Amino acid sequence: MLKTTVNGLELAYERRGRGTPLVLIHGYPLDHTIWNPVVPLLEPDFDLILPDLRGFGQSGAVRTRTLLTDMAADLAALLDFLKIKKAVIAGHSMGGYIALAFARCYPSRLCGLGLLASQANADPPEKKVVRYQMADRVEASGVGEVAESMPALLTANTDLQAALKQLILRQPREGVAGALRAMADRSDSTDILSTFDFPVAIIHGLTDKIVPIERARDVRAAVKKGSLVEIEGVGHMPMMEAPQVSAEALKTLL
Ligand code: MLT
Repeated sequence: MLKTTVNGLELAYERRGRGTPLVLIHGYPLDHTIWNPVVPLLEPDFDLILPDLRGFGQSGAVRTRTLLTDMAADLAALLDFLKIKKAVIAGHSMGGYIALAFARCYPSRLCGLGLLASQANADPPEKKVVRYQMADRVEASGVGEVAESMPALLTANTDLQAALKQLILRQPREGVAGALRAMADRSDSTDILSTFDFPVAIIHGLTDKIVPIERARDVRAAVKKGSLVEIEGVGHMPMMEAPQVSAEALKTLL
């Protein structure tokens, strides 16, 4: 992977293809490799930038409190380093929360937004408590518990579950715990949806067990220029479970 230093930490990223810059932000507790199935479909049209977020994959972790806006700032700094002023930003789940934080902090830098298996809502109070408790357990005992419990929530495809379990086991505990707390602390983004002047592509599996389809429909209803692709038989990992459909939807942002 390529590496650069942003905001005092080493950020790893892949760069593939040519065309309109498209940043693909992975979700929790994963890394940029979740995009592998769509990369060959998108690289003829896009200059793909595939970061590992701070605390994940080959990027450095921080021990201090992280907010999703800090992760958005890492991506803005990466774009500065690459001399890219405007990009399409697409995020998977937590990556979508970060894309929305990016849209709030750097609205002039977006020319399109993709949300896969994501939502604009913040966590209800009871979910914040569960995230904080899990973060403490991950910090104390490692990512094993997350790796056992999460794959079945991500997808019904058992081969994919096994691969995702291995991917989760490779993630550092500080990054996973930090992201759990950052998600719990995130602000609600519904207030900014109606201000977007760029196109928004929403991609969502109808059997998503983590973010229900209703949250995607809420985003679609709130944005001016939105399209929603609802994918039958797909769970929380549309870019892996339905790469062709996901890539076609992202191409509408060209
Ligand atoms: C993700 O897939 O990024 C997270 O599971 C999202 C969440 O827990 O809200």
